[in-house]
Amino acid sequence: MKDELVIVLDFGGQYNQLVARRVRECNVYCEIYSYKTEIEKIKTMDPKGIILTGGPNSCYEPGAPTYAKELFELGIPVLGLCYGAQLMTLVLGGGVEAAPVREYGKTEVMVDKKESKIFAGVSAATTCWMSHFDYISRVAGGFEITAHTADCPVAAAENEEKSLYAIQFHPEVLHTREGTKMIDNFVKNVCGCAGDWKMDTFVEEAVQSIREKVGGGKVLCALSGGVDSSVAAVLISRAVGSQLTCVFVDHGLLRKDEGDEVEAIFGPKGAYDLNFIRVNAQERFYGRLAGVEEPEEKRKIIGEEFIRVFEEEANKIGAVDFLVQGTIYPDVVESGLGGESAVIKSHHNVGGLPDYVNFKEIIEPLRDLFKDEVRKVGLELGIPKHLVFRQPFPGPGLGIRIVGEVTADKVRLVQDADAIYREEIARAGLDTEINQYFAALTNMRSVGVMGDERTYDYAVVLRGVSTVDFMTAEAAQIPYEVLGKVMGRIINEVKGINRVFYDLTSKPPGTIEFE
Ligand code: XMP
Repeated sequence: MKDELVIVLDFGGQYNQLVARRVRECNVYCEIYSYKTEIEKIKTMDPKGIILTGGPNSCYEPGAPTYAKELFELGIPVLGLCYGAQLMTLVLGGGVEAAPVREYGKTEVMVDKKESKIFAGVSAATTCWMSHFDYISRVAGGFEITAHTADCPVAAAENEEKSLYAIQFHPEVLHTREGTKMIDNFVKNVCGCAGDWKMDTFVEEAVQSIREKVGGGKVLCALSGGVDSSVAAVLISRAVGSQLTCVFVDHGLLRKDEGDEVEAIFGPKGAYDLNFIRVNAQERFYGRLAGVEEPEEKRKIIGEEFIRVFEEEANKIGAVDFLVQGTIYPDVVESGLGGESAVIKSHHNVGGLPDYVNFKEIIEPLRDLFKDEVRKVGLELGIPKHLVFRQPFPGPGLGIRIVGEVTADKVRLVQDADAIYREEIARAGLDTEINQYFAALTNMRSVGVMGDERTYDYAVVLRGVSTVDFMTAEAAQIPYEVLGKVMGRIINEVKGINRVFYDLTSKPPGTIEFE
């Protein structure tokens, strides 16, 4: 299944994971590595193709990330994107300089070589996403220019004979209308991949390898009710049945009624062959969070307390052989183990082995998969659709959707407002369109009137984003009538809230969560 590997060499660009995802969308398995990866290691991996990502530097500056010329002499096709394109040009003897005109945003690209393998089936003038301050001023020897824009003489260049391709724009970003086509062209037309990486074979092979690994051993899983841990649990239960015990910690920061819903699916009345333990630890979490206002500190406390509660349960169960982690590929990459990107938030716990549970080995059945692939596996396994397509919900839960101190009362306010918002979004048929949406509680209180009475209550914020990758996002365009209805219901039904805002901020500069 993984006979065909394409590797992405990460030069620190913000879209590194997107590049790999696009390749996998073409049914070709792809992994991300740092640009510091040694050539010998690359040779051993024997990739069908190599893609160099963008990056924040100027490649001609001393100390900027680079790669030895040898990389381009392996006989393996190389596609350089943005920084990667400039670097390829510079290393092979071409010219790269600060551009007289910086390009940023959607840009019309004119394809000059229609018969280029990479532009097969692509329009002669096509919208692409540009983001660069340097440009290729002179192509390297043996290269020809294959596309340009009004401000950029070399939007793409290639040395067809050596299968080296340089693209100044970002085909991995969806704003590049025919970008996926170009990546598909690279992996199939240039690298010669057949594209047979599919999810049904993944399930069969994963079940088989879990059985072999686990044997008669005992497995312990922390189940959150989120997509990743649910899919991991069902996959393992499929392989070894009740050798698996799932512990579900209800930290009191879940959405309204969510704890009961998780229990209904995975508990004794549910459909799966596994042992299920629910721990109601609400009060403990509220106690630890009393008086704490800083978001990262809240994340840390919730994470630590979770470990403590889980540890106590694990101790009751006694020694186990394996501990399941629902790690997925973006966690691996974002933890700095795959590519070059800095850790932005402290919520990924990859690589470090928890020493608080008595176990022999970690098992991470989803470690190689992107989120959309995990969902496909979930469907393959027959997990209910509403769970598989559940919108993402952060581990620290409502703890980071309440600005300032978390209290049981505030949790109730945000749960009730959020439940109304979700209900109305579903009723309007928008629930599958908006990628993530929720209510958050501000720490602002203001004066209002309710009937004849003066109120001094909280303002709630409605957030809704359209995003493909959760790395960039735009505020969802929710019809005004829907927002109006949600506002009316929240004000009328949730005592303690007297104002409703809609957050228009995109990411960047904002984040998706609200705190
Ligand atoms: P941001 O707010 O970083 O969110 O734009 C991007 C995605 O990550 C989720 N998120 C978290 N998930 N623990 C989590 O498990 C966290 O601390 C956390 N912070 C953000 C967020 O819901 C969104 O899907």
